[in-house]
Amino acid sequence: MGALATFTAVVPLEWGDVNIIHTTDTHGWLLGHQKTSFPEPNYSGDLGDFASFVSHMKQIALEKDVDLLLIDSGDLHDGKQGMPNVRLLWTGTGLSDGFPPGGVDGHETNKFLAMLPYDVMAIVRNNHEMSPFANTLDMHVNFAPKLNGRYLTSNVNITVPDAHGNAVSVPVGSRFAKFKTKKGREVTALGVLFSFTGFAQNTTVQPVADLVKESWFKEVIQEEPDFFLLVGHMPVQRDDWPLVFNAAVRAVHPTTPILILGGHTHIRDCVQLDGRSMSLESGRYMETVQNLIGREAQNITFSRRYLDPNRVTYEFHAQQRNATFDTLQGKSITNGLLQLAQNFDLNFLFGTAPQDFTLSRDPFPSNGSLLTLFSTEAMPFSLTINNTRANIPKIMITNSGSQRFDILKGPFTKNDQFTASPFSDAFVFIPSVPSAIANKVLPALNDAGADERKRSLFEKRERLAYERGYVDFVYRRWLEEMDRRHGLERRAVNNLTLGYVTTDACPGIGDDSIHAPLPFFPSPDFIGSNPPNVTDDTPIDLVFVDFIEDQLIEILNSVQSDKVFSSVDVQSYTDVLGNQVLGLFAQHAWN
Ligand SMILES: *[C@@H]1O[C@H](CO)[C@@H](O)[C@H](O)[C@H]1NC(C)=O
Ligand SMILES: *[C@@H]1O[C@H](CO)[C@@H](O)[C@H](O)[C@H]1NC(C)=O
Ligand SMILES: *[C@@H]1O[C@H](CO)[C@@H](O)[C@H](O)[C@H]1NC(C)=O
Ligand SMILES: *[C@@H]1O[C@H](CO)[C@@H](O)[C@H](O)[C@H]1NC(C)=O
Ligand SMILES: *[C@@H]1O[C@H](CO)[C@@H](O)[C@H](O)[C@H]1NC(C)=O
Ligand SMILES: *[C@@H]1O[C@H](CO)[C@@H](O)[C@H](O)[C@H]1NC(C)=O
Ligand SMILES: *[C@@H]1O[C@H](CO)[C@@H](O)[C@H](O)[C@H]1NC(C)=O
Ligand SMILES: *[C@@H]1O[C@H](CO)[C@@H](O)[C@H](O)[C@H]1NC(C)=O
Ligand SMILES: *[C@@H]1O[C@H](CO)[C@@H](O)[C@H](O)[C@H]1NC(C)=O
Ligand SMILES: [Zn+2]
Repeated sequence: MGALATFTAVVPLEWGDVNIIHTTDTHGWLLGHQKTSFPEPNYSGDLGDFASFVSHMKQIALEKDVDLLLIDSGDLHDGKQGMPNVRLLWTGTGLSDGFPPGGVDGHETNKFLAMLPYDVMAIVRNNHEMSPFANTLDMHVNFAPKLNGRYLTSNVNITVPDAHGNAVSVPVGSRFAKFKTKKGREVTALGVLFSFTGFAQNTTVQPVADLVKESWFKEVIQEEPDFFLLVGHMPVQRDDWPLVFNAAVRAVHPTTPILILGGHTHIRDCVQLDGRSMSLESGRYMETVQNLIGREAQNITFSRRYLDPNRVTYEFHAQQRNATFDTLQGKSITNGLLQLAQNFDLNFLFGTAPQDFTLSRDPFPSNGSLLTLFSTEAMPFSLTINNTRANIPKIMITNSGSQRFDILKGPFTKNDQFTASPFSDAFVFIPSVPSAIANKVLPALNDAGADERKRSLFEKRERLAYERGYVDFVYRRWLEEMDRRHGLERRAVNNLTLGYVTTDACPGIGDDSIHAPLPFFPSPDFIGSNPPNVTDDTPIDLVFVDFIEDQLIEILNSVQSDKVFSSVDVQSYTDVLGNQVLGLFAQHAWN
């Protein structure tokens, strides 16, 4: 405990010759985290505060006569797509995704992001169920030009009509950038997306293994810069970085410094692939801003710090007081975002949540679990509104991945509904299933990973899901591990606030503020309402979210042999969609 206490004082950032501020996976959380439950206040800085911070830091860099670059590794807004059995999603907020009909994901928020002096940005993944192509086109036509050649998409193309109306495949942004820093250092920058298989029609992601064999690529890296900047939407501990790092760049330039800035799995991470390089990943949802310092010497000294984005942190490191902190531009960005929230009606109030309901901080089942609330209270209420089958006994099943973010005590708004439960899935049912049989379905679904054969199926599914962009399990494993490592000890020090406790592979402590980790509890893959109190042979409605239809039918056929069920037996249960359930419930229960 004594040792812990000494970490709690925030230490000023070190400055080196080359300094980098890095963001990734902001997903539309540009108004910051606005709830009062911990750890949210520590992530309360909005994009306007961040712009003010960056502007002060640039000034300090000028005074110290050093370089400071601002870099983002992608996932600026959401990206949704479906695949059988696995829901792929990394949520946006209402700001990026709550646009009125006819809009495009992230189109409005991108205008604010483009006001920041980003030196290099890497591509966001670009899929959306409704307009898979429109997003990428928007980035190509409207966003990339604002970055003046620094929106880097080395291996991502889009197919668009040329001047003669013929379809041509062209890079979404630029394949590479060579530029000089303020201090005259020469930089060669590349933007790489992992070999992603879930891309939308008319966009192509070239496998990284093929990218590094391209003659243009070899040409670009031939000339030795002062350092290479590899920016990409790939986690630093897996994926294709070694292909770019070793096979390509290191093979040609054994000692040139290489800085790798990754993202995608939403964790804080750092690794040094060799003594003259450093790889970093900076969390998610505006919960982490990363600061990297390189000091050049015979051996390069690197240092990194994971900042909690809030005004207290920003003001401290920017050496400002509250009264001097805001820049005009920062204020105008904040006001513009607040206006956008109003235009999208995101503050519409469904009700007031009486307490926190969390995804993994409370045990499942428990009265603090969002999954318990959703399955045993919200679904049974909302799906039976105006429903002629309301009085027929039923059991209702959905996948726990349908819930994406905690509901926290206080106002529950349209924006909160977006972040907590974004999927517009329909609910369907099979009528007249004997109660005893229907009750076996949920446990059987959750059991599906139990034996060895099924475990290997599960691993295969996980790998496939990863290739398709689903990374939630990596983030959850990270939370679980920090709780196991530090939870009991640190939560006992009662003056530590809750937050991330990072253990990475780089020397020293990375977290800027020392926290106690959030408790972590596992939850099942599928959740359901409480079984009705009826006799075993009573016919009941087996209600479920359509997203899991194939799996559910397979399981239903495995727990009984009286009848072979198929999709022909499935009917629509209600017009209420998955992303409306919590709002309807809140209007009823929390008003
Ligand atoms: C936390 O408490 C310890 C004593 O238990 C004290 O030494 C330390 O200064 C406190 N830290 C903060 C940030 O208040
Ligand atoms: C985290 O939030 C708490 C409550 O607002 C605040 O007291 C603390 O200063 C914050 N930590 C930092 C480093 O900003
Ligand atoms: C893909 O491009 C082709 C050729 O330009 C076009 O005909 C087609 O409509 C595009 N598909 C989508 C989904 O935009
Ligand atoms: C991407 O676009 C470039 C330029 O038009 C083209 O040469 C290249 O073949 C395209 N790559 C892929 C994988 O389609
Ligand atoms: C550089 O690093 C190498 C290997 O770690 C070490 O042997 C050497 O003494 C270092 N040189 C300097 C100048 O620090
Ligand atoms: C910081 O200043 C703003 C006005 O610029 C004020 O509204 C706010 O209350 C101040 N915050 C603190 C913590 O003093
Ligand atoms: C939730 O459960 C805890 C512990 O069993 C209890 O103290 C609390 O009052 C419960 N809250 C509600 C809203 O039921
Ligand atoms: C239920 O019916 C009432 C009266 O027709 C209507 O006002 C309400 O919007 C309906 N609710 C839902 C969720 O369909
Ligand atoms: C279930 O129903 C039976 C018969 O109607 C009743 O005696 C019993 O109290 C009920 N149990 C619960 C938990 O409601
Ligand atoms: Zn992301």
